[in-house]
Amino acid sequence: MKIVVTGGAGFIGSNFVYYLLENHAEDFVICYDKLTYAGNLETLKDAQENPNFKFIRGDIADREQVYKMFEEEKPDVIVYFAAESHVDRSIEEPELFLRTNIIGTSVLLDACKKFGIKRFHQVSTDEVYGDLPLDRPDLFFTEKTNLHTSSPYSASKASADLLVQAYMRTYKIPATISRCSNNYGPYHFPEKLIPLMIINALNGKKLPVYGVGANVRDWLFVEDHCAAIDLILRKGTVGEVYNIGGHNERTNLEVVKTILKILGKGEDLIEFVTDRKGNDLRYAIDPTKIETELGWTPKTKFDDGIKKTVAWYLDNRDWWEKVISGEYQNYYAKMYGNR
Ligand code: NAD
Ligand code: TYD
Repeated sequence: MKIVVTGGAGFIGSNFVYYLLENHAEDFVICYDKLTYAGNLETLKDAQENPNFKFIRGDIADREQVYKMFEEEKPDVIVYFAAESHVDRSIEEPELFLRTNIIGTSVLLDACKKFGIKRFHQVSTDEVYGDLPLDRPDLFFTEKTNLHTSSPYSASKASADLLVQAYMRTYKIPATISRCSNNYGPYHFPEKLIPLMIINALNGKKLPVYGVGANVRDWLFVEDHCAAIDLILRKGTVGEVYNIGGHNERTNLEVVKTILKILGKGEDLIEFVTDRKGNDLRYAIDPTKIETELGWTPKTKFDDGIKKTVAWYLDNRDWWEKVISGEYQNYYAKMYGNR
């Protein structure tokens, strides 16, 4: 199969590119990526050595570029990761999220309609379900939970999901959708909680915890997410939505304290700062459907995955030191300077 991974130079997309190259030597993998601030060719350095891999720079919201790629490459499968993915940025600049995450989706789907596709897989998020209250640990998101979004980011992802469902029904595009909880692992851009805290702690900087750090996320090691998507591509049923998550709930403060403990640093580095506007309280996935129908289970428990992740950042200083030089410093000053 010829598989186009859009957004394959970002965090999860790049992990998925490596997952495919390692587990499916019979497939040819193309990364189609605009290389925004979140895309990084350094991450794909090893993939570029593989004869089964090709990189194409392109924007999913640019119809001409997308059609050209479809015409030339004739992909069998699109795995759609490309997105503006950070909630804090969506609060600052919603429109960019609408362009990439909604217009980009419609352009990709139009291309599938025009040129044909065997499978379009939409990588979505549990954030489309909104949040759960902190005092109801018995509640979980299932595939039947109503869409109910909180941030411009989650609203744009929910819109994309609805477009995929509309194109399935109207134009018979063979699609699947997965909605995953928070990922962590190698190549994670340090604007998100876990890599930001690891890097700040390594640099002896304060760790900015929003509010009182009581919000809960359901953490999934990125490789487990990649395995789930791969399974959906090969064994999933067209038209279906699959939730992906593994009962690894932690409060933000617990996550930050765990990182400090692994690094042998003191909790005095923690600094409580003004909360994110509209910050979702708790995400928690019920993965029963993907477990029972496709036999997926996450392999990595949070306590092991977080140690592996910290070790990766310790071993790959070059990667993140380049990432945080330049524009990242302006971002950091703007978001955290007067918080
Ligand atoms: P990321 O921000 O690390 O990477 C996004 C990638 O998309 C980058 O390589 C960027 O260059 C590329 N991109 C952005 N705009 C583009 C455009 N217009 N055209 C082509 N490429 C473009 O994101 P991530 O964390 O790897 O997330 C990947 C996907 O998974 C997203 O769709 C996100 O909504 C979803 N998701 C993420 C998480 C998570 O915890 N990170 C959880 C659930 C779902
Ligand atoms: P984030 O990694 O942005 O993911 P999500 O899309 O789930 O919001 O943030 C996870 C949680 O961590 C969220 O409640 C916001 C909080 N947070 C902090 O406390 N400090 C930070 O510097 C960041 C980036 C996030």
